[in-house]
Amino acid sequence: MANMKQGGHETAGQSVAPANGKLGVMVVGLGAVATTMIAGVEAVRRGLAKPIGSLTQMGTIRLGKRTESKSPLIKDFVPLADLNDVVFTGWDIFEDNVYESAAHAEVLKPEILAKLKPYLETIKPMPAVFDQFYVKRLHGTHVKTGKNKRELAEQVKADIRAFKKTVDRVVMIWCGSTEIFMEPSAVHASIENFEKGLECNDAGIASSQIYAYAALSEGVPFANGAPNLTVDVPAMIELSKRNAAPICGKDFKTGQTFMKTVLAPAFKARMLGVSGWFSTNILGNRDGEVLDDPQSFKTKEESKLGSLEYIFQPDLYPDLYKDIYHKIRINYYPPRGDEKEAWDNIDIFGWLGYPMQLKVNFLCRDSILAAPVALDLVLFLDLAKRTPDLRSIGIQEWLSFYLKSPQTAEGLYPEHDLFIQSMKLKNTLRHIMGHELITHLGLEYYD
Ligand SMILES: NC(=O)c1ccc[n+]([C@@H]2O[C@H](COP(=O)([O-])OP(=O)(O)OC[C@H]3O[C@@H](n4cnc5c(N)ncnc54)[C@H](O)[C@@H]3O)[C@@H](O)[C@H]2O)c1
Repeated sequence: MANMKQGGHETAGQSVAPANGKLGVMVVGLGAVATTMIAGVEAVRRGLAKPIGSLTQMGTIRLGKRTESKSPLIKDFVPLADLNDVVFTGWDIFEDNVYESAAHAEVLKPEILAKLKPYLETIKPMPAVFDQFYVKRLHGTHVKTGKNKRELAEQVKADIRAFKKTVDRVVMIWCGSTEIFMEPSAVHASIENFEKGLECNDAGIASSQIYAYAALSEGVPFANGAPNLTVDVPAMIELSKRNAAPICGKDFKTGQTFMKTVLAPAFKARMLGVSGWFSTNILGNRDGEVLDDPQSFKTKEESKLGSLEYIFQPDLYPDLYKDIYHKIRINYYPPRGDEKEAWDNIDIFGWLGYPMQLKVNFLCRDSILAAPVALDLVLFLDLAKRTPDLRSIGIQEWLSFYLKSPQTAEGLYPEHDLFIQSMKLKNTLRHIMGHELITHLGLEYYD
């Protein structure tokens, strides 16, 4: 492709390999989010429903000047895998097939599940790598055994290799439970340390990291829908780069944090101050049950807390944001199932310090919001793997759009503002296709 002139820089248009053949999607944890994604993809394939909420399926991208009226669908602009070419498999600690698990999750209506039943029943989980030390509220019965964590990793690698024989490309996504809060330690500092840790069963290696290690070792991109530490450590970043297996941050940005990263940038853009932000949630699905354990809640809390601090930049704006009281609560309340309710009370202040309040009550459906995010991450990671410019850089910061905890290069602060993230994502797509970036300057219209 020809070189393109972009804002004074010569940038080579990259030739992205086409999405030929089948894309295999290996899902860790076939619970509410995963089954809603899988059933949803099948429903869309059969023309039973529309892929609402999915940027890859419904989004357009503007190319060139506003006067050119050129806005193709993203999936027509970049070579994404077609939904008809997507093949699912996965692991879970329970033996339920995807139909049974979806019925148990009670996200989708029985009528639609009944239509999809013959297909969903064919997807049966492989035995999982699981240790209750990392998820206290679950008791797994369908699990792998081995003499140490290295053997378990080898078994996951064998699963990947077997699946690879049946498809053309593979991506892995963690839709499993939230693990206990963990911090990076010496075992995560390098690939060598990590591999020694696998051998001697180091407690610093959680189940999610065994899957991620297996994926990245096999050159398979890995997305993390939970706030678990998983790939957010030097060993995994190194492995990702070495094996051209893209990674991209963690924890699907769906409900309350999605709203936060829309509202907070608006307050900041208008220089309105914030003195307090109280966020509470009630939810009654299995995720809520797992998060009822204080150690798993801590992992989620850390992930949810980060966004405001970075968006408001209190060091730059001490008068507006220095003393924010930010509090987050998640309450397990079984009657509500997957239909989570989130409340936010935001204490803001304006001209001359006069106080005001904003209340947000989001009655959402957790997995309905998360399923398209999971699908998009899978399709975009597969695209990254086929893109020379992206495949070996490790972290795909342009996918932060989808995640509560974006991952970045060392020393860079994460960008949480949803609209900056959206612009970054679309400009990355323009860049890899050799198109001019859009800066929104627009002075040329007034020449
Ligand atoms: N739904 C949302 O809006 C949302 C948003 C952000 C993050 N998340 C995260 O996504 C994850 C999935 O959410 P969910 O609502 O589907 O939860 P869920 O409890 O319904 O599903 C999780 C599944 O993972 C399985 N599992 C746990 N550990 C495993 C292991 N080591 N190997 C294989 N399977 C394992 C569980 O048995 C369960 O079936 C959670 O961590 C949740 O915090 C969800």
